[in-house]
Amino acid sequence: MEVIIKANYEETSKAAAKVVAEVLYAKPNGVLGLATGSTPLGLYKELIRMHKEEGLDFSSVRTFNLDEYVGLPPTHDQSYHYFMYENLFKHINIQMQNVHVPSGTANNYKAFCEWYEKRIVECGGIDIQVLGIGTDGHIAFNEPLSSLGSRTRIKTLAKQTIDDNARFFARREDVPIYAITMGVGTILEARKLILLASGKNKAKALAEAVEGPVTSMNTASALQLHHNAVIFADKDAAANLKMAEYYNWIQKNKPGAPKA
Ligand code: GLP
Repeated sequence: MEVIIKANYEETSKAAAKVVAEVLYAKPNGVLGLATGSTPLGLYKELIRMHKEEGLDFSSVRTFNLDEYVGLPPTHDQSYHYFMYENLFKHINIQMQNVHVPSGTANNYKAFCEWYEKRIVECGGIDIQVLGIGTDGHIAFNEPLSSLGSRTRIKTLAKQTIDDNARFFARREDVPIYAITMGVGTILEARKLILLASGKNKAKALAEAVEGPVTSMNTASALQLHHNAVIFADKDAAANLKMAEYYNWIQKNKPGAPKA
C-alpha cells in the first residue's frame, strides 16, 4: 500500500486525478470504477478540467459505479445516478451506453447483481477503482462485518452511515435503509485501487484501515490485501497515522528508486 499525504483537499484531488488520467492515456478504452460522496468531487472537477483544457478523452471509456440507494430512481436528486450525471458525465464526452451504475429500482435484485458482476468481467475488469471511506471505515456500502470476499448485493446501511448521509436529504427518515453495492471481493479484483480521504472526521477510520489489522469491522482495511492500492489523504484525514513521517520519506525518495 502506498500512502500519499497532501497539504489540503485540492492537492489531494489533483494528485488522484493525475493517476486516473495516466490510466486513461495508457488505455483510452479503460474501465473506470467510480465512487460518490463529497470526497471525489474535487477529483471529478479536475478530470473535467483535463477534458476541457487538455483533451482527456472519455469517448471509449467504460465506467462502473460502486453503489446506489435502493428505492431511488435515477431522476431522484439524491440518487447516485443523478450525482454522477450532474458531477461528471454531463461535463465530459462519455457515451452514456458505456456507463454502469447499480440499479436502485430493479425488479429482481439477485439477477441484477449477478448481471452487474458479469458485465464488469465482460468489459475486461476494472482498471482503476476510485474509493472514498465512510466514518465507520466502509468502502462503497460495505458496512462493518461485510465479508472481505463479498460480491455485489443488497446491504442494510449502518445507523452511522444513515446519520452521516442525512445531511443530503430533507429529513433523516428520507435516507434509504438499503443499498445495492459492489462487494469487497468485487472491489479487490480491480487492477488498481485509489482511496481518497479528506477531513478530520475520517482520521480514525483511515488510521484503522491503513495501520490496523485487516478486519471486516473496517472494510477499507481490505486494501492491505491488494497489490496496487494507493491512499490519497489530506493532512486532516492523515492526522492519526502513526507512520506518516515514513510515508512522506518514501514519497520523497521515490523518484530516485530503480525502476522495478
Ligand atoms: C457513501 C458512499 C461511499 C463514500 C462515503 C463517504 O456512504 N457509499 O462510497 O465513500 O459515502 O462519503 P463522503 O465522501 O461524502 O464522506
